[in-house]
Amino acid sequence: MLGGVCALVTILILAQSTSLNSHHEAADWSCNSKTDIHIQAHFNPGRITLDGQVDDWKDIDGSAFSILPALDPHADKAYNGGKMNVKASHDGKEVFFMLQVDGDYTYSEGYSNKTASVAFMFQIGENATYHRMGGCEEGPDTCTNKSCKGHEVDLMHFSIGKAIPGRLYGGNLVDNSEGNGGDRFGHLVDLYCWNPHCRYLDGYGPSVNDTSAQNDWKGTWWHSSLTHSGFVKDDSPYSSSNQSGAYYFEFSRPLRTMDRLQQDAQFTIGKTSKMSVAFWYPVHGKPWHGSGHFSISCDWIQLDILPDSSELTKVPQGSPWDAATAFSLLFSVVAFCISIFVGHRVSRTKNIPFTPMNNL
Ligand SMILES: *[C@@H]1O[C@H](CO)[C@@H](O)[C@H](O)[C@H]1NC(C)=O
Ligand SMILES: *[C@@H]1O[C@H](CO)[C@@H](O)[C@H](O)[C@H]1NC(C)=O
Ligand SMILES: *[C@@H]1O[C@H](CO)[C@@H](O)[C@H](O)[C@H]1NC(C)=O
Ligand SMILES: *[C@@H]1O[C@H](CO)[C@@H](O)[C@H](O)[C@H]1NC(C)=O
Ligand SMILES: *[C@@H]1O[C@H](CO)[C@@H](O)[C@H](O)[C@H]1NC(C)=O
Repeated sequence: MLGGVCALVTILILAQSTSLNSHHEAADWSCNSKTDIHIQAHFNPGRITLDGQVDDWKDIDGSAFSILPALDPHADKAYNGGKMNVKASHDGKEVFFMLQVDGDYTYSEGYSNKTASVAFMFQIGENATYHRMGGCEEGPDTCTNKSCKGHEVDLMHFSIGKAIPGRLYGGNLVDNSEGNGGDRFGHLVDLYCWNPHCRYLDGYGPSVNDTSAQNDWKGTWWHSSLTHSGFVKDDSPYSSSNQSGAYYFEFSRPLRTMDRLQQDAQFTIGKTSKMSVAFWYPVHGKPWHGSGHFSISCDWIQLDILPDSSELTKVPQGSPWDAATAFSLLFSVVAFCISIFVGHRVSRTKNIPFTPMNNL
């Protein structure tokens, strides 16, 4: 866990030293984003199982994105493996996500940089920009929840690392009892940030650690070249290297969390949130570094948490006199007449013999 945090911090520091120029070259930054893209999470109770198998997503529409380098979003530098398909769903309590991205199988146990990795980013503070992950102007020494207020961004990062395919990682009793967003078992961590250099596990902060936080995420991964399920650690590396296919990631989180520190995005049914997805991959077998990730867009993408649509279609709109209404009225009139007729017949029939059940 501490190792994980240290690795993350190392990645951060590396990212900082290698990408400082990119972050400051504001003139170079250009983004032609299509802001009309909406990822829609429909109400699908009892549909999704978090097992890495994605058959249960096949009737759910997704959005396919060309993924571009986050710090240099130009089409000619897109991830050459293929597009990333992003799907979302919810069951009224939890929101579910599925990511599918083509990539040759690579697994190097415990060496996160040599396997695929994904992250989600959600806007929390109303002034949190996509560019520079919240966009707070403070540096690592000066960012605080006061100086960066309004720039809060929620992050979830899953580095496959030593995670076994098909097994569940993320929030667990051991780490959650310590009250932070860590995950010592699989490095599926719950974080927040104000900019790329002020990034912390939920509960941790620049001046004080708060133990009221939780890792609210669960997730798993899979690759299409894996042929059976029920893997254990000893089966590592689970499949042979460089087999072509696709990576699948499945995640869930409660729509609302018990966060009291502005470190989690909160989702509301019927409302739209802002999100993005990042992807790290060891292109040509070269280990990735923290800022060398691809992103589905160079600005926020809308995430709609849609209400139960069957409720909406039950509410008649416009003319109430449709065929069904007319038929049910006719039916109830006929039923009423029959009941009067039967009632009349019964009241006129005297001496109906009583037949005990056991004589039948
Ligand atoms: C900042 O965080 C500290 C520690 O969690 C808390 O006591 C304080 O109220 C927070 N301030 C703001 C402005 O949120
Ligand atoms: C966001 O920025 C606007 C304009 O600078 C400011 O009025 C508002 O208070 C900010 N919101 C937060 C949550 O800090
Ligand atoms: C918070 O906890 C982390 C990990 O245990 C530690 O490295 C850091 O120094 C703590 N920060 C404060 C302000 O106590
Ligand atoms: C897989 O591909 C990488 C990079 O292209 C190469 O270095 C490695 O030797 C390959 N491994 C196998 C088992 O073919
Ligand atoms: C990640 O990659 C960097 C080089 O980009 C390396 O220094 C670092 O040790 C790697 N981290 C892990 C956990 O492998």
